[in-house]
Amino acid sequence: MSNPRAALYALHRLPPAIEARLSARFDITWNAADGDVPVADLVERADRFDGFIATVTDPLPAEVFRSGTRLRIVANFGVGTNLIDLAAARSAGVVVTNTPGVLTDCTADLTIALMLMTLRRLGEGERVLRAGAWQGWRPTHLLGRRMSGKTLGIIGMGRIGQAVARRASAGFGMRVLAAAHRPPAPVLSPELVVEWCALDELLGRSDVVSLHCPATPETAGLLDQRRLGLMRPGAVLINTARGALIDEPALIAALASGRLGGAGLDVFRSEPTVSAGLLGLSNAVLLPHLGSATEETRIAMGDLVAENLEAFFAGLAPGNRVA
Ligand code: 8YV
Repeated sequence: MSNPRAALYALHRLPPAIEARLSARFDITWNAADGDVPVADLVERADRFDGFIATVTDPLPAEVFRSGTRLRIVANFGVGTNLIDLAAARSAGVVVTNTPGVLTDCTADLTIALMLMTLRRLGEGERVLRAGAWQGWRPTHLLGRRMSGKTLGIIGMGRIGQAVARRASAGFGMRVLAAAHRPPAPVLSPELVVEWCALDELLGRSDVVSLHCPATPETAGLLDQRRLGLMRPGAVLINTARGALIDEPALIAALASGRLGGAGLDVFRSEPTVSAGLLGLSNAVLLPHLGSATEETRIAMGDLVAENLEAFFAGLAPGNRVA
């Protein structure tokens, strides 16, 4: 029997159209402050709410998922569920859902933007201009590197990795190398021309390396000092996946020494804190986790959150269940 007015706690404010849709169907308590909610508060709220609406930066560790609480579902606004203890949710019988697919294009677009920003030194250029330090067009001023025709190595060929491959090869004539973050390699659509290779080989052959795998215990620190050392001198690293995939001090050292040409980062280890080492580097392009940040995509993500919750509370299987 479906519950007509389940009680939900939303850890963040959502686009107005989504809040209206959800409020019409559920009793929602919104986190008016829209800031981070301490875990202790979530532990207490698990006894008072049927569901949580969380987002990609909300840690939901094991203690939130005690058995016998009122909590039955966590609907995540986002794809990545690396901060949610899925095993603990499963053993407490709490369903977890996410929002795949609808943010693929936006995140792939932003990945390409970061590649261009980093290779062409666009952030540096804007900073020079705004600082009033532009002395006019000079044949040698702010020379970056061409993106067209370069070799791109993609680590993780899921939906977003493939969307980046498509843009890079069709739009920029790039040769695409791919490494699966775990076997078996996914079956790709036939129009996509990529060369599969082992991760270490990909690192040694790519001008640009882009990360598109989830953060899991297996992928934590995937690009460690040794692997960063395998990248070609002057190569560029792009991360629109998760900060935990990179050994950040090792990356900072490689960028500071000039061994790596640059990094374009949309995600960080302890968001919203960005290490001083990165902030001080002119060859690092740093964005505040904007991969899916378009009006269209955030509405589509919200609609999926609503669909998952509506299905669950109608006694149906939610479409995007991850636990
Ligand atoms: C990001 C995300 O914007 O859904 C997620 O898990 O983190 C996205 O919304 C993107 O992956 C970062 O560039």
